[in-house]
Amino acid sequence: MARKIILDVDTGSDDAVAIMMALLSNDIDVIGICSVAGNQPIENTTENTLRVVQALGKKVPVYRGAREPLVKSMFPERFIKGAKIVNDRIYDADGKEIKIHRDYLDLPKATIQEESICAAEFYLQYLRNAKEKVTLVLVGPLTNLALALMMDARIVSNIEEILIMGGGHHITNSTSAAEFNIWYDPEAAYKVINCGAKVTLVPLDATHEACVTEEDCKALEQLGTLAGKFACELCRQRILIHNAMQPLDIPDAAAVHDALCIAYLIDPSVLSDIEHVHVDIGFYHRAEGQTIIDQRYYTEDKNCYFAYHADRHKFVKLLMDTFR
Ligand code: RIB
Ligand code: CA
Repeated sequence: MARKIILDVDTGSDDAVAIMMALLSNDIDVIGICSVAGNQPIENTTENTLRVVQALGKKVPVYRGAREPLVKSMFPERFIKGAKIVNDRIYDADGKEIKIHRDYLDLPKATIQEESICAAEFYLQYLRNAKEKVTLVLVGPLTNLALALMMDARIVSNIEEILIMGGGHHITNSTSAAEFNIWYDPEAAYKVINCGAKVTLVPLDATHEACVTEEDCKALEQLGTLAGKFACELCRQRILIHNAMQPLDIPDAAAVHDALCIAYLIDPSVLSDIEHVHVDIGFYHRAEGQTIIDQRYYTEDKNCYFAYHADRHKFVKLLMDTFR
């Protein structure tokens, strides 16, 4: 029986790989896709999401979500990243700037339309009336679900699990303390992690282990499918940025963060060392967006599951099998 999910994305290059994997997997039934501002403004992430759904010829509704975090935008100083990340720009041989998330995905403009209701409304309508529980897979900032939970916390009763690409214990990216999805909207992250549903975090510690190499990109391209070729293009772009700004243990490799969440739904053994822990969210100054794990013997009440490790070879095989 395919697992019913709602996908929440800030499409983005790795979001696009995750969307394709979810739409093409026989093990997953995508009820709807919610866009959110994050990697790009909401106009871009919504358009990019529509382009991916259209390119695969799938009939899955897309719901436009929040254009800014719950409250953080009121405090611009909280967006100050580590100087290194903001100032560095990467250019290819032709002098063209390379971004890990292009403004618009290199796919035909969307002619399919987004739905009339917004993401938070969709969460409320669907979860209030669902006949069976559904898994929420959030791979961008957690703003949409936080809004819905603030409007009607009863929706938790129809949530099977909340699977989040977010956080980092030994590894961060946006700042020395934080991973981007949590850092972009820490208040939303706090509300979602503590909503009472089962929450599983897939952090950078795991996604950096489940990386793809140039060899894997070649294999994806040789599949000869649209998804394989597009995933190859996206991952090659990501390898350039990782090499320049965040080299992994394996040379010429890239994390495909969001796709690891989908891989976990298909084969849970792709993640390991999943521990039930208490995670706090850091706010302000250097702690902004940090996922703080309580490692004391007498910890605070445990509020989520944290996946410390992933299996690279299983992840790549799941990518290849799905995009074949
Ligand atoms: O930190 C990685 C996360 O931030 C991924 O979801 C990526 O798409 C960006 O949203
Ligand atoms: Ca994302």
